[in-house]
Amino acid sequence: MPQPAPRRLLASAALAIAAIAAGIALSEPTRVTFPENIDTFVHYTTVTRGNVVEHMLIPPAAIEAVRAGQPLPDGTHVVLADYRDGEIYRYFIMQKGPDWGADYDEDSRTADWQYQWFWADRSINMEEDTARCRSCHQSREGSDYLFTYNDLRRFAQ
Ligand code: HEC
Repeated sequence: MPQPAPRRLLASAALAIAAIAAGIALSEPTRVTFPENIDTFVHYTTVTRGNVVEHMLIPPAAIEAVRAGQPLPDGTHVVLADYRDGEIYRYFIMQKGPDWGADYDEDSRTADWQYQWFWADRSINMEEDTARCRSCHQSREGSDYLFTYNDLRRFAQ
């Protein structure tokens, strides 16, 4: 007797593997958008690592909030613009929104921040699993999940 059901399962597993190989299943739809008004953002600090120069950018309203001792407002983008040899190479962006953290398991969330990796042409890196971003940034729970929070505070003063 032929057993079509397991064969169908095998076929769909093969499709899933093909999708992963094509980078489709790995991409993670996060809520982070590329900020169209990035040109209005404030450059609050720079981190240099060899030929990599990282400009940290944030909207003026977020600077005002920090100055007033308020939490960063919902919708805030924080941008790490990664330059290699003077050329923009990629953007690492974190953005917060109302209850966005509920999209993730309690132990892997970073409050209501979500993360995304955009290439220089502003397309998403479909091969990044943004759980990696969250797991590293989780260590910064005491400073709103930002590594450069102290620089931001100093800048805002
Ligand atoms: C291995 C740990 C690690 C991972 C993984 C990681 N980050 Fe970060 N991130 C850092 C550190 C450390 C900084 C501070 C800048 C520096 O030291 O280069 C930083 C800085 C940032 C900043 C600037 C604001 C801040 O926190 O200071 C953004 C935005 C950011 N990362 C987004 C991302 C995104 C998006 C991803 C995933 C695509 C990601 N990060 C993955 C460690 C990490």
